[in-house]
Amino acid sequence: MRVTAAVLDRPGEPLALRDVELGPPRPDEVLVRLSAVGICATDLEFATFFEAPAVLGHEGAGIVERVGDRVTSVAPGDHVALSFTSCGRCRPCLTGSPGYCLRFDALNFSGRRPDGTSAVSLGGTEINAHFLGQSAFADHVVAPERAVVPIGKDADLTLAGPFGCGFQTGAGGVLNVLRPSPGSSIAIFGAGSVGIASVLAAALSGCTTVAVVDLNAERLATAESLGATHGVTGGEGAAEELRSIAPDGFDFVLETTGRADVLRTGVEALAPLGRCGVIGVGPSAEMSFDWRSVLNGRTITGIIGGGAIPQVFVPELLRLHAAGRFPVHEIVERFPFERIGDAVDAAKSGTVGKAVLTF
Ligand SMILES: NC(=O)c1ccc[n+]([C@@H]2O[C@H](COP(=O)([O-])OP(=O)(O)OC[C@H]3O[C@@H](n4cnc5c(N)ncnc54)[C@H](O)[C@@H]3O)[C@@H](O)[C@H]2O)c1
Ligand SMILES: [Zn+2]
Ligand SMILES: [Zn+2]
Repeated sequence: MRVTAAVLDRPGEPLALRDVELGPPRPDEVLVRLSAVGICATDLEFATFFEAPAVLGHEGAGIVERVGDRVTSVAPGDHVALSFTSCGRCRPCLTGSPGYCLRFDALNFSGRRPDGTSAVSLGGTEINAHFLGQSAFADHVVAPERAVVPIGKDADLTLAGPFGCGFQTGAGGVLNVLRPSPGSSIAIFGAGSVGIASVLAAALSGCTTVAVVDLNAERLATAESLGATHGVTGGEGAAEELRSIAPDGFDFVLETTGRADVLRTGVEALAPLGRCGVIGVGPSAEMSFDWRSVLNGRTITGIIGGGAIPQVFVPELLRLHAAGRFPVHEIVERFPFERIGDAVDAAKSGTVGKAVLTF
């Protein structure tokens, strides 16, 4: 079928709306008509180097149109959010950690199905797609069943997409991985959509000190309005300000900027035995620490997809949202799909918390 997609023609270039051909769902795949798709910083990062032409986008939500013969968890008409995919057969998958699937990179970042094919063609040639199980910068997608999360019909389909990545990542980093007990202290670096979701989760967990560090004053103000107890301006003075907030160090730190210098500040802000979750992916390829700063019982753990099983965690977060306890809609701004260029600019400049494209 002909669908409209925002195609990355060359790394670093703006996405261009094009008619592409989308193949039918395979037996284990689902065809979804998207209602909306969020823009995640990971899309912007991959747009700088991903092998093009390609279709990115990985926060889709919509309505199932067709399912392959072997699909049992959804049927046409069901409402779904899309998330990352995983093999379902390896040890991490079988023990409830699909974000750490042994085939995660091949399945989510190779641009192809495992057999080397792509569901998306441009001018008769298959192009890279299947990004994080979906390639949702398109009005329809073909996704493997394991990337599909059934959600209730009462959930807003123009809000549900980012639950499959950004919101799940930030909230899961706190609720699934760090698991702070009530009364704990946490410092969150970066107040983008991931950072804000983690602020909300820290408040839900009963953290009594929630310090947020960012360079963007508006984002700090938003974080404070949503439960952060302290807004700290990033850069030079941040370490000292954090020391004045938690003189013995923070029990937990969550890093969402992808910067090695920020991560180092975060680790040094931990109390002995404190735990730092690393979520950000970005400018820095390496991290380095003073020997002593990790010798005193501190733990640094990478986190993918909020350590979540999307089919379990996304509906939980949507229930929290419906109950008014996870008000992520406060940071969402919607743009028609045709304005994807403006939405990307707004996401890059930080003038919106979470840009969502609607179809
Ligand atoms: N690990 C995963 O599974 C996963 C999933 C989703 C997103 N991510 C990554 O998480 C990160 C956050 O995503 P997002 O959508 O919230 O991005 P974002 O760009 O909206 O937010 C990042 C924030 O960091 C702030 N920042 C930059 N430099 C800083 C500094 N020196 N000090 C303090 N703050 C600084 C920016 O002002 C911005 O507000 C990205 O790197 C993204 O690629 C990882
Ligand atoms: Zn993402
Ligand atoms: Zn696996």
